[in-house]
Amino acid sequence: MTIKPLKPLKATHVYCIITAHPASNPITEALFSNPVGFNVSISTESTNPTIQNMKVLVAYATIFGSTRAIAERIATRISTASHGDYTTTVLPVDAQPPPNISEYDALIIGSCIHGQRWIKPARKFIKAHYKQFRSDPKPIWVFSVGVPEAKPQWRHGREKAKVEKELGKYMSFKSHELLNGEWKAESTPPVTLCCFKWRRFDEFGDYREWDVVDAWADSVLLQLQTLLEVN
Ligand SMILES: Cc1cc2nc3c(=O)[nH]c(=O)nc-3n(C[C@H](O)[C@H](O)[C@H](O)COP(=O)(O)O)c2cc1C
Repeated sequence: MTIKPLKPLKATHVYCIITAHPASNPITEALFSNPVGFNVSISTESTNPTIQNMKVLVAYATIFGSTRAIAERIATRISTASHGDYTTTVLPVDAQPPPNISEYDALIIGSCIHGQRWIKPARKFIKAHYKQFRSDPKPIWVFSVGVPEAKPQWRHGREKAKVEKELGKYMSFKSHELLNGEWKAESTPPVTLCCFKWRRFDEFGDYREWDVVDAWADSVLLQLQTLLEVN
């Protein structure tokens, strides 16, 4: 985090570049509450040349498209909020030719969840790259898309822990977010549909919460800026 100028204390205007969430930081929190009447400007734009022109890959695995839309939203949010300091590329995990992850400064990888796991192409992507994650380490964030809001059992389900346990065998990641996706009856295979209905998992609908997606993208950007500024 950079705060300038803090001296002289007579300053009436404080310009802050925040690289941590204000609520999580006692100094920015104090500045927000503004006890002495400073004019406070907050910017997430970096003036540090080392954190400009960074490349972020957002790789996703989807079957019916809601994870792709979430990946695109995350990418747009990061490039817009960083005022272009971060260039984002959105690609499916099974893109041809496969993405060259060494070209990127950071990775965000997401998959929809089936049967409390990432779907196969996403697991294949992780397995194909796990040696590279170790030899050429870079910050990685992961997200999963399920429908935890659709049923209380799923809200308190074990998706998050199970995905983290499985991914943890192949890579380390900064954070993992379980997001709500869209669950369409017409996109569920008939046999699975019968099974779900029998188990009363039949509350289909669009559960995506764009404000939650945006908030997570913002938190990733702030962590990225902190990490890259420190290094
Ligand atoms: C066969 C099947 C299994 C699913 N299993 C889960 C699950 O275990 N946990 C969960 O939260 N959502 C589960 N879902 C819901 C999907 O994860 C959800 O609809 C997601 O938004 C689909 O993403 P997509 O549109 O990117 O394919 C399942 C959906 C299907 C069709």
